[in-house]
Amino acid sequence: MAFFSDGRWVSDGAKIGEGTIVQAGAVIEDDCVIGRNCRIGYHAVLRRGTRIGDNSIFGTLSASEGWNMIGSHVTIHSQCHITEDVKIEDWVFIAPFFCGANTMRIVHGRDYPLVKEGYTIKSGARIAIGVNVLPAVTIGLDALIGAGAVVTRDIPDYAIAFGSPAKVVGKVPEDERLCVRILPQQTEHGRSLRVDISP
Ligand SMILES: CC(C)(COP(=O)(O)OP(=O)(O)OC[C@H]1O[C@@H](n2cnc3c(N)ncnc32)[C@H](O)[C@@H]1OP(=O)(O)O)[C@@H](O)C(=O)NCCC(=O)NCCS
Repeated sequence: MAFFSDGRWVSDGAKIGEGTIVQAGAVIEDDCVIGRNCRIGYHAVLRRGTRIGDNSIFGTLSASEGWNMIGSHVTIHSQCHITEDVKIEDWVFIAPFFCGANTMRIVHGRDYPLVKEGYTIKSGARIAIGVNVLPAVTIGLDALIGAGAVVTRDIPDYAIAFGSPAKVVGKVPEDERLCVRILPQQTEHGRSLRVDISP
């Protein structure tokens, strides 16, 4: 474990790639694997088993509750809460005050099993400020989720959706579909971009 005078706490059991910056106050627990050229923001918390690809940003005061797969070229802005067992693919953008849930029934002392089901955000999706996501949903490729939405059901690829519950209101124009435009030779239409975050 390394504890720095600026309050960073980085476990010896974490792997951090070359060129990655860990800013003051950040905490990185065991079994975290962070790729190259990332930025882990001020007072961010990466709990056990968080994996992040290359060239990604995990913003100030955001938290990953562990065992999450976060791809490359991802931006998770400030003050976002990422629960356990979540998959966030390459080139996803998440604006501030995002919060996702991974259990539908809140057990808290009740006598029924705790079922955890993370959500998936597919490549190129953009999530606006203040969005909430319920367990087990999938937000499709390049989808755009509008400010303040509560996502309760799967959102198809390329959909624009907002509201509570979020409803599809349109389609992302073809020239805004990042995964098709950036890596046309590496991705078929509708297939997610590579998420290479092996240790
Ligand atoms: C999804 C989004 C792009 C939609 O914007 P838009 O296409 O310009 O929408 P419009 O202005 O054409 O609005 C169409 C209608 O939907 C409503 N509307 C737009 N966005 C809405 C939202 N997020 N939630 C609920 N209603 C919304 C408008 O009020 C309007 O209703 P009206 O026809 O009754 O007046 C926008 O809401 C959004 O969330 N942008 C991202 C902001 C953001 O988080 N940026 C990142 C900062 S770091």
